[in-house]
Amino acid sequence: MCGIVGYVGHQSAGPILLEGLQRLEYRGYDSSGIAVLDRDGSLAVLKRQGKLRDLEAAIVAMPSGGAGIGHTRWATHGVPSDRNAHPHASSSGDVIVVQNGIVENYRSLKAELEQTLAAQGRSWLSDTDTEVIPELIARELARGQMFEEALQAAIARLRGANAIAAFHRADPTRIYAARKGSAGGMVIGYGDGEMFLASDLPALLPHTTDVYHLEDGEIAVIDSQGALIHRADRPRHRPEPRQVDLDPVAVARGPYRHFMLKEIFEQPRALSDTIRGRARLDPPSALADEFEISDATLRSVERVLVIGMGTSLHAAMIGRWWIEQIAGIPADFDNASEFRFRAPVIGPATLVVSVTQSGETIDTLGAMDHVRDRWGAPQIVVTNVEGSEATRKADASILMRCGPEVGVASTKTFLGSLAALYLLACRIGKARGSLGDADLGEALEQLLTSPSLVERGLALSDQCNEIARSYTGSTNFLVLGRGIEHPLAMEAALKCKEISYVHAEGYAAGEMKHGPIALLDQQFPVIALATRGPLFDKMMSAIQQVSARRAPVIAVGDEGDDELAGLVDHYIGVPPASDLLTPFALTPVIQLLAYHIALARGLDIDQPRNLAKTVTVE
Ligand code: G6P
Repeated sequence: MCGIVGYVGHQSAGPILLEGLQRLEYRGYDSSGIAVLDRDGSLAVLKRQGKLRDLEAAIVAMPSGGAGIGHTRWATHGVPSDRNAHPHASSSGDVIVVQNGIVENYRSLKAELEQTLAAQGRSWLSDTDTEVIPELIARELARGQMFEEALQAAIARLRGANAIAAFHRADPTRIYAARKGSAGGMVIGYGDGEMFLASDLPALLPHTTDVYHLEDGEIAVIDSQGALIHRADRPRHRPEPRQVDLDPVAVARGPYRHFMLKEIFEQPRALSDTIRGRARLDPPSALADEFEISDATLRSVERVLVIGMGTSLHAAMIGRWWIEQIAGIPADFDNASEFRFRAPVIGPATLVVSVTQSGETIDTLGAMDHVRDRWGAPQIVVTNVEGSEATRKADASILMRCGPEVGVASTKTFLGSLAALYLLACRIGKARGSLGDADLGEALEQLLTSPSLVERGLALSDQCNEIARSYTGSTNFLVLGRGIEHPLAMEAALKCKEISYVHAEGYAAGEMKHGPIALLDQQFPVIALATRGPLFDKMMSAIQQVSARRAPVIAVGDEGDDELAGLVDHYIGVPPASDLLTPFALTPVIQLLAYHIALARGLDIDQPRNLAKTVTVE
């Protein structure tokens, strides 16, 4: 979703802002812009619809000023266009602003500000909600406020969640940042005589690893020497930067053609890192050291609810399955965006587990608030981002250790979430006594083999490529699975939609006869997930029924399964795994199939159209 960058210091701001925006491209955007202020007060604002290369091409001479802000926009209010791209200026041209989030009450604010604009013979310059912000700030400044006070007053008038960067044309030595609610992160980076700002760490890493994460309700006044934090309820302070141990190389693409492919291949390492030190065998224990939720709480809950969105929802579905199987406690899953607007009856004895790779998804955060406000139930978050908003809302966090994920379509964080949920299921089972030491040891020993299962799955990339090429022209796919393979069928279909733009549906195979079968013919390929689990025979019947309608079948089953191979058009054999570990065996293949279909169709795999990595707006 939208990205923000900022700079103030001794270097030329333009190239630094552009490079920062390039590093945020993965978040998804449809237009971009920068505003740079020279020490002599001259201002350059450049905005373009389309990719950053369009913005770069539009720059005749790179503005050299020592302060500036930049933005990649993902349209919400107003179509993607040059005029709607950020930065936006006040009608006086003095106050320059970029924003992530939504000004929910922008209509009434526009109506309120319009009279003043009309009196000055001016009108709005864009169709965006953001444009009210510089105008509100300018109005406060005209009343004699300092910039930070004017910003604070303007923010107090906004409804919704907003992350803002701004500056005033008359002051080339300062930029300002503010955060209200959950509109994605805002990180300040400390350099030597220069300061950086970005909505996400990857944009800062080439410059510094000393950072401060702006908190909800804070405003930062940033000059080349540091940052001063203001908030309504506390004295001003200069925060201590924290050092992040992220390797800048981890966010480079290396020899891979796409970040998505790189991240698919990083999965064995992401898994071992996530499991490391958390699955002990002698004596058996899971997540023993890091938990802020006590065994007594885990014993007292009567039910577990796992929530998430997108790929994280599919991880939640598998997590639910493991929690039931391993910990033997009632468990359910829910879509966070539906859950938060229902009146779900969960009770305080439900443990709520939110899965969110970014820790910033607005619906998941909304669901967490709902749980806290309505039920006060204990909450755990599974996330890849330390310090994210979700970690602040939860009672305990289980951090995946996947490293930054740049591809918009989640891959390694899917398996990272799964490892964390599996460990949690083990921990709950042990705390409740439903899982004896021997069974716990056995379950953990299995989990420890997951990186090598995934490694073997990755070796099937060429075969996936070959099969994908036979289906480049297909515009529909049905993906079938049963039991723990059903959420994987849904994840496979989601990956196809996200990056290949083909219509794909993931279905529980038992449902096929209740509708989808009517679609099937020779042009409608079916991907069947059919490892030799307890429901294998039922999957075989479903495949027979598909073949009888002449629909081509691509089956993913156990290595060496000749019976299955003989029945279908294409067969991919994955390493045999226990019922519990099936997701680790199947995931690389479903990801690689979608990747190679998209590749054969020549699509923009890392930045699929209309999608965003972190969805911070409703
Ligand atoms: C977006 C991303 C998906 C992700 C989903 C949920 O749609 O493109 O890859 O699965 O958001 O994000 P979260 O950060 O909550 O896991």
